[in-house]
Amino acid sequence: MAICKHINHMKILAISCSPSRGRNSDTMLDHFILGMKEVPGIEVEKIYLQDIYIDDYTYENSKAPEDREPEFKKLSEKISHEINGLVIATPTYNFSVPAHLKNFIDRIRFFALDFTKKNDLGQPMGKLGHLKTYFLVSGGTPNWAEHILFFAFPSFWLRGVFLYFNAKVMGAFYSGDIKTFQNEKILTKCFKRGKKYAQKVARKESHGILERIFWRPPQIR
Ligand SMILES: Cc1cc2nc3c(=O)[nH]c(=O)nc-3n(C[C@H](O)[C@H](O)[C@H](O)COP(=O)(O)O)c2cc1C
Repeated sequence: MAICKHINHMKILAISCSPSRGRNSDTMLDHFILGMKEVPGIEVEKIYLQDIYIDDYTYENSKAPEDREPEFKKLSEKISHEINGLVIATPTYNFSVPAHLKNFIDRIRFFALDFTKKNDLGQPMGKLGHLKTYFLVSGGTPNWAEHILFFAFPSFWLRGVFLYFNAKVMGAFYSGDIKTFQNEKILTKCFKRGKKYAQKVARKESHGILERIFWRPPQIR
């Protein structure tokens, strides 16, 4: 009799956020995706953030997407209800992320935060507890310098924001080679990281204690 091993079906959304398609962070993401696809039960969808029309944040659009943002509405519903994992690939722009990624993160607070519940600091509570996140970051600063100045790079900031949203942060990977898209060694590392991340998502594993201690804002006891 054949033994049927139950495999959890997990959905991961991969968002490519560089305006430069086919360059560094986009290629890192493609190799990360190839690694994820090695894992049974993992379904991956890749999108380009710039294909989604999103107005700049204002008080008026702070509660929900407007009628003229149907794709953003669909994306918001997907992230809140349909996916288990979220991978964001981005370049470093002026110690931060490209403006459209920053705006996207500003806009998602209506479903990422619960304003009816406050933590010890009086901040709203995060609502993305179902999400396991991973960040791929390209930059023009060599890796050794990024290790020292880690706080001036998107991987630091993105981890902080998504922990604030109560998501699980599974890791981040930075490449400081401006020719990353041609660097087989780095791209192989992205493939391996993608496979490892997807295995953890498939096994419903959470990330280590360190990230929770050092990054997560205090929650209600
Ligand atoms: C507007 C702009 C600002 C940048 N700012 C930084 C920076 O603050 N730190 C850094 O290490 N690299 C910076 N860079 C370099 C890019 O992060 C780097 O070239 C990266 O590999 C581009 O990734 P991409 O090919 O995925 O777009 C900047 C590049 C541009 C175009």
